[in-house]
Amino acid sequence: MSTNRLIAGNWKMNGLAADLAEAKALAEALAGEAATTRVALCPPATLIAQMNWQLRDSTVEIGGQDCSDKASGAYTGDISAAMLKDAGANLVILGHSERRAGHGETDADVAARVEAALAAGLEPIICVGETLAEREAGRAVEVVSSQVMASLPESLSGRAFAVAYEPVWAIGTGLTPTLEQIEEVHAAVRAAMVARLSEGGRTAPILYGGSVKPNNAAEILAVLEVGGALVGGASLKATDFLGIIRAA
Ligand code: 13P
Repeated sequence: MSTNRLIAGNWKMNGLAADLAEAKALAEALAGEAATTRVALCPPATLIAQMNWQLRDSTVEIGGQDCSDKASGAYTGDISAAMLKDAGANLVILGHSERRAGHGETDADVAARVEAALAAGLEPIICVGETLAEREAGRAVEVVSSQVMASLPESLSGRAFAVAYEPVWAIGTGLTPTLEQIEEVHAAVRAAMVARLSEGGRTAPILYGGSVKPNNAAEILAVLEVGGALVGGASLKATDFLGIIRAA
């Protein structure tokens, strides 16, 4: 069945070679199941090539967690989109709030990385989300809409990509917005995608991220315009991640 629903696991800065056993366990558990949703793991860049080998017979896809906006050159420590692709990734998370806040990435920086990812043939997952202060000031929809408008380059039209709504205050905290709040922001994200990309913004999935667990996944994934999930902590163990995938 063709689907553009996507459940992606973001391992963040977690994972050594021994943890590839979790990826293998996930792939083995999913092997006999009819795929109703795309499943991806985004390990640290150091594990992509090994994970690609481990998952060679699996439908589980692989993503990076960031890439440079440059194609190559004297940028010590940076990783290009082509390098991620070469190692076996077909997706890349861009503009995660931990990159925006911790590394000063602006919307323009994110848009430039999206261009680089597209040029290398990677499918970007572009993250947006408000802080607690912004939500409490009643500015969540405004902030997220403006991030979508400024982080999505026009070249995304006609290309495969996803947007992930991750409220910063819900990441790693166990807190989640109400289902009504998720629906409200996802509707605003869709409107901003269409305003930015016209028809090209209508079909890409909008993932929800922030404390998605096996016990809340079903209700979150049933919300209008929630086209999947971006999962942090609960993607590190195959059993937890499977619980979320099976709720989709
Ligand atoms: P948690 O699922 O650990 O809250 O992380 C969400 C996230 O940041 C995924 O990118």
